[in-house]
Parts: sequence; structure tokens; C-alpha cells
Amino acid sequence: MNNESNILLLEDMTTLTKERIEKLKKDNNGELSEFIQRQRDSKKIVFLLERIGYLPSNFNGKCLIPLLQNHNDNIRLLAVKNIGKLCSDSYLEALLKVLKQDRDSMVRREAVSAIGRMRSRKAIPTLLDILTNRDPKIVMQAIRGLLVFKTDPTVRKKLIDIAEHKNEMVQSIIRKEFNNGHASVSTLKHTEYPDFINNVVVHGEVREVLKHVPDDSIHLTFTSPPYYNARDYSIYQSYKDYLEFLASVFKEVYRVTKEGRFFVLNTSPIIIPRAGRQYSSKRYPIPFDIHPYLIEMGWEFIDDIIWLKPEASVKNRNAGFLQHRKPLAYKPNSITEMLMVYRKKTDNLIDWNIRQYPYKIINKSKVNENYETTNVWKIDPTFDKIHTAVFPIELCNRVVKYYSYEGDLVFDPFAGRGTLGKAAMNLNRHFFLTEINETYVNRIKEELTKNRDIFSTNFKQPRFVNMATFTTMAKAKNI
Ligand SMILES: C[S@@+](CC[C@H](N)C(=O)[O-])C[C@H]1O[C@@H](n2cnc3c(N)ncnc32)[C@H](O)[C@@H]1O
Repeated sequence: MNNESNILLLEDMTTLTKERIEKLKKDNNGELSEFIQRQRDSKKIVFLLERIGYLPSNFNGKCLIPLLQNHNDNIRLLAVKNIGKLCSDSYLEALLKVLKQDRDSMVRREAVSAIGRMRSRKAIPTLLDILTNRDPKIVMQAIRGLLVFKTDPTVRKKLIDIAEHKNEMVQSIIRKEFNNGHASVSTLKHTEYPDFINNVVVHGEVREVLKHVPDDSIHLTFTSPPYYNARDYSIYQSYKDYLEFLASVFKEVYRVTKEGRFFVLNTSPIIIPRAGRQYSSKRYPIPFDIHPYLIEMGWEFIDDIIWLKPEASVKNRNAGFLQHRKPLAYKPNSITEMLMVYRKKTDNLIDWNIRQYPYKIINKSKVNENYETTNVWKIDPTFDKIHTAVFPIELCNRVVKYYSYEGDLVFDPFAGRGTLGKAAMNLNRHFFLTEINETYVNRIKEELTKNRDIFSTNFKQPRFVNMATFTTMAKAKNI
């Protein structure tokens, strides 16, 4: 077969099989190059560039250079990707030009990644320059390239210098690599917690109680705080006071939470009814307003889960609109609440948290049954004979199963009738609860002691204590 007919063959996509491309890469770089140069059909070039795969070290990538000027963004991107595979600093200048001139941010980012992949000292000055780029993704690619030379004093210094970079993801990479971050200094193992808060219910004000709890003690917090002044069990002078109160509690929760562990907060927008017919009622978007406080104190936002209730179970706000159908006066029935999921800041991945547990615990804690695959959890509300706003047990069961391991300590600072404690107990976890209202503490006592095998040796009996006893326990630590 002469060269001309080979090229013709190449121009027919059906003949561009994987094997054919492999052979051309190895034997006849010239032919491939000629094909690329002669080809006017963008689809065919993309087809080839996407299938080119691994490139041998003797491959001459010069044929890809003209493609860096192609009008098609995808072709330029694929050309850069393929040049990157060659890991050769002979393409440094061409790639730098792409970084400076290309209109497409994806192509520019890929160019920096390709420069990094060269692992060449010649690329260091270029990569250091790139650290000042405005695009954080480009900066992160440059960092990846530079980390290969992290023992080089100049590189090390320049990287540490950007520890306070504007972008939070850049900051976290530098912290992780140079270990100047939020590493936990707890004396307790990740699986352990102080015994004096194990299966304990404290009748007291949560912030007073938490003053006695050591850092890094809790594996999971799930709570539903008072809903501003929507119910009668709590009165705050202003919405700002209320948010600041919550923030002061959640800051303490942050402190007592173990590295990389979760905080699940259940709230929803609430309505405070109007004072008279001539006034309007007011809606307060609690989840959205508390969120910035949580981020500010270090919680990392992980997920938003919607708790969906049947329409018949919520207050009907529709009656007026149903009659008059006048726009602007539309009021939907609120059938959702939010579960906002946060994680205590760490430079470790979730895998690190999981690795802290012995195999046996990991195995026992696996969620082997059907589980909720979406962030919409359809669960009926529960009503309690004493408390006006309680978690359904199913809601607690899911949170406990998905966000903790057997043997962990779970915490509810606003325990109500103690539903979280009950779920913890049933799922072989331990609990720590605080509740300010004595009537509710008595209700917790009733809930947590009924149907319990009090002679079971594996189970630490719940203790119900007041503030004074708890303070003594905290001082003694080993009680
Ligand atoms: C929405 S309810 C929680 C209900 C709970 N999730 C359950 O399943 O029963 C909020 C609870 O927080 C309690 N509370 C309010 N302020 C408190 C404080 N400063 N310290 C401790 N508990 C408080 C209230 O008495 C109320 O029982």
C-alpha cells in the first residue's frame, strides 16, 4: 500500500480502528501528521484525537502544534491533552502561549496541567508565575505541578506564601501539603470519648453544659433548635438575638466535634403570625440566615436534604387563594423542612475518618438494607403527647445510620423528648443529650427507660443529671 492510499484510508472514519491508530502512532508518525494537516473536517480530527490514547515516548508531537490555533475549542483542548501525555518540556513555549492567549478557560487550564505533567525543572519559573493567575483552577493545576519539587526551597517558600490565598480550595491544598492546618491535637482516639458524657442526659442550658465538655468528644450532632418565637418554649427579643444564640451554641458544637465529623441541622423557614388584621405576618428563612454563621465558624457545607411531609399533615395556607385566585396573594403549603449537613473542617478525606475504625465496626455499621438514594426524604411527622415539635424516629434512624458508626457518641443539644437518644440506643450508638425544660427531661426519661433490657451488660444505663451533678462529673472526669 503506498503512502497516498494510506492517507485516503485514514480519512474514512470507519477504518480508523483502535488497532489502526495504535499502528500509525508507532510506525508512521509522518502519516498521522499529514492526516492532521490535510484534514479539514473537525469531526474527524476530534474522532482521532479522542481515540489516540497512550503516546509512545518517540512520538513526534509537532503535528499537534498547529491544532493549538484551531478555531474549534474542543480540538484545541484535545490537542493540549495529547501534548500533555508526551511529558516533554520541548512544548513549554507552545503551551505557555496557549495559557496566555487562548479564549477558552478549559483549554488554558489543560495547558497548565500539561506544563505540570512535564515534571521538568525548566517549567518551574513558568509554574511559579502562574500562581498569581486569577483563575483558581489554573492556580491549583500549577500547585500540582510544583508539588513535585516541594523540597526545593524556592518552590516551598512560594507555595507556603500562598497559604492565605483568596480561594478556599487553594488554601486547603497548601494546608494539607505543608501541614500547617487544623490538624486535631486531641488526646482521645478518634473512636473514643469521655465516659462522663456517655449515655447522659443533662437537664440544663446547653452552653453552660458544653463548657464542661472537652474538645473533640462528639462523633455526630443532629438537632432541631427552637424555631425562633414560633413555639412557646423559647422567647428571644429579636431575630438577630435568636441567630446569635444559635451561632453561640453551634460554635461550641464545632469545638466538641471530632475532626471531619458531621453536624446535621434541621430547621425551616417559619412564620410569626400578624399582630392584628391591619399588620402582616412575617416569615423568617432560618436555614438561609444561619448558614453564613456556620460557614464563618468553620463548618464545611456538605449537603442539603429535604424532609418532605404529606400535605394533609401541615397547616393549610391555601384557603384565601383557593377562593379569589388573585396573583401576589399566593401562599403555598409548606410541606418541607431542611436538614443541612455540615462537616468539621479537616484536610483529611472521609476515608481517613473511616480508617480510624476497626474492620469489625465498619462491617457491623454498613447500611446493607434499602437506603434513600435522593436528598428528598419522605417521612410522616410524629406527634407527641407532651412535646409540640419532635423528630420522627425514622428521621433520626437515617441520620444516625448514614453519618455514624456503631459505638459512636451522638449528641442533641436541644433534645426535646430525646428521639435522637432513642435512635442511638436502638442502633448501638451512645448518646449525650441536653434539654433545658424539666418536663421534657422527664419525658426523655420515660422514652429511654421503657422497653430497655436493664440487665444487658453491653449497655451503659442512661443517667439523668442536673447541672450541679454534671459539673461534679466533669471535674471528676472518670465518673
Ligand atoms: C424543636 S425542640 C427539639 C425536639 C427534639 N428534636 C425531639 O425529637 O424531641 C427544641 C428543644 O430545645 C429546648 N431548648 C431551648 N433552648 C434550650 C437551651 N438553651 N438549652 C437546652 N435546651 C434548649 C427546648 O426546650 C425544646 O425542647
